[in-house]
This record gives sequence, structure tokens and C-alpha cells, in this order.
Amino acid sequence: MSMISVKDVSFSYNEKKQSLKNIYLEIEKGDWIAILGHNGSGKSTLAKTLVGLLEPQTGEIVIDGIVLNEDSAFELRKRIGIVFQNPDNQFVGVTVRDDIAFGMENLCVPREEMIDRIDFYAKKVDMQDYLDKQPSNLSGGQKQRVAIAGILAMRSDVLIFDEATSMLDPFTKNDLIEYIKSLNKEGFTIIMITHDVNEALLADKILILNQGEVYAYDDTVNLLKNKEAFEKSHLELPLALQVASELKDDMIKDKLWEYILMK
Ligand SMILES: Nc1ncnc2c1ncn2[C@@H]1O[C@H](COP(=O)(O)OP(=O)(O)OP(=O)(O)O)[C@@H](O)[C@H]1O
Ligand SMILES: [Mg+2]
Repeated sequence: MSMISVKDVSFSYNEKKQSLKNIYLEIEKGDWIAILGHNGSGKSTLAKTLVGLLEPQTGEIVIDGIVLNEDSAFELRKRIGIVFQNPDNQFVGVTVRDDIAFGMENLCVPREEMIDRIDFYAKKVDMQDYLDKQPSNLSGGQKQRVAIAGILAMRSDVLIFDEATSMLDPFTKNDLIEYIKSLNKEGFTIIMITHDVNEALLADKILILNQGEVYAYDDTVNLLKNKEAFEKSHLELPLALQVASELKDDMIKDKLWEYILMK
């Protein structure tokens, strides 16, 4: 059954331009989706419609069988967590601790459980020493870590990361990716908006947006073999795959593909 079903969704911020044009999309429960596309292609706008922050002018979004509308938005938001592209936009608390707690408060997580989760997820992103600090004084990457901890702590069924790892150092990023992999294995649905094609390789499916439209949506392996789709949407294949596609020997080529795409 679909976790998220997007049917003919269009959205414009103003009359001049349509930011999303007639989007159709089915995301299965437990899938890991990567969303790629150049700047301004509509990735963040789509993510905001999925969490009910922007209301599409046409079409319908159905989350786990429930139509997203004014009445259901509050409840459905508990099921979908998002880390925004700009972490400054999601800080509301006086301390890092307050900010990690914020999403859980909306979910009415019991106090004891909340304290445990704050500790656990602060450690997960290595921010346990900053819990009493002011979020505004943190670096960009540290803010991203706090935002990520807050979302993980909510343990929502669907987790959307909007370029949420862009400022993380490689060590923190790898750690986080490993954790997201384990969540996905547990059945959490993951949506990762990224400009990092290597990160997209982790996904079951890749969605490429282009000027507000679905340019391609397919299994990762199928899509990566479609060089044209990548080139036309100004995306670069990961270097290893560029090399693999140049190989003449089909057997070695297939082996290399298998190796690169191994999760
Ligand atoms: N608040 C806004 N008001 C008006 N137009 C907006 C607003 N936010 C985005 N847009 C426009 O909507 C389109 C899609 O923007 P969006 O932020 O969804 O792109 P994106 O794919 O997330 O890009 P990026 O890779 O830069 O994050 C762009 O043309 C952008 O200029
Ligand atoms: Mg964006």
C-alpha cells in the first residue's frame, strides 16, 4: 500500500510561475526515495506540500490512506517529519534541548521518554555537550545536527531530509547515513532531497524534478542506466558509474555496477 500518494498536484507561489506542475507520485511504505533536480526545480516546494505546509492549488495528497487537508493536517504532520534545507528556519527554543524536544511535545511523548530520547539522539549526532546552549550560536553544521536529532526523536513513519546533510562533515554524515539505513530496514519511509548523486545511490528509487515536473521516477538501478535522463536534467552520474559505463567488457561492466550499487 502507498504511504504517500500524490495525484495531479500543482502549486504556485504567485501568478508568474508554477513551481509544481501536475505531479503524480506513489511512494510505498518503507521505501527510500532520493529526489534530485537542479536549483529551483521544485524539490523543497514538493516536500512542503507533503507535510501540509503549502496547500496545492490543484490535486490531492493522500498519506497512508488519509487525504491531507485542513482537518487532517495536524494529525498527519505527526506521521511525517521534515528537516528543512535551512536549519535556521526551524529553531524556536531557547536551548538546543528545547529544540530537540519541540517535535516530541507536539506528539505528546511522555516526559520520561522524552528525556531519554533527547539524550539518545543528541548523542547520535554528537551534540550532547551543547544541550543547554543557545541554538542561534551554533555553526551551520551543528544546527543541522540539532534539527536532525529533533526529527529522529519524533520517530515519525516518514522522514524527509531536505539537503539536511549538506553542511555535515564526512564523519558525521556517514554515521547518520548508517543510522538512516537502519531506520529504513526497520520500515521507516525515507525521502532524501540531495544534490549528492552518491547519496542518491542509497535509495530504492530516484525522482528527478525538472522545472516543477516529474522528469523521471524509477528504480535507482534503472534510472542510473538511463544516461540521457541524467544528462538532460544537468545531473552528473557518480564518477564510478561514469567509468563503468565506458567499459567495453560487459561482464566486468555488470560486476562493477553490482559492486557500486551494493548497499
Ligand atoms: N517563497 C517563495 N516565493 C516565491 N517563489 C518561490 C518561493 N520559494 C520558492 N519559489 C520558487 O519556486 C520554484 C521552486 O523552488 P524550490 O525551493 O522548491 O526549488 P528547489 O528544487 O528546492 O531548489 P534548491 O535546489 O535551490 O533548493 C523556484 O522557481 C523558486 O524561485
Ligand atoms: Mg530546496
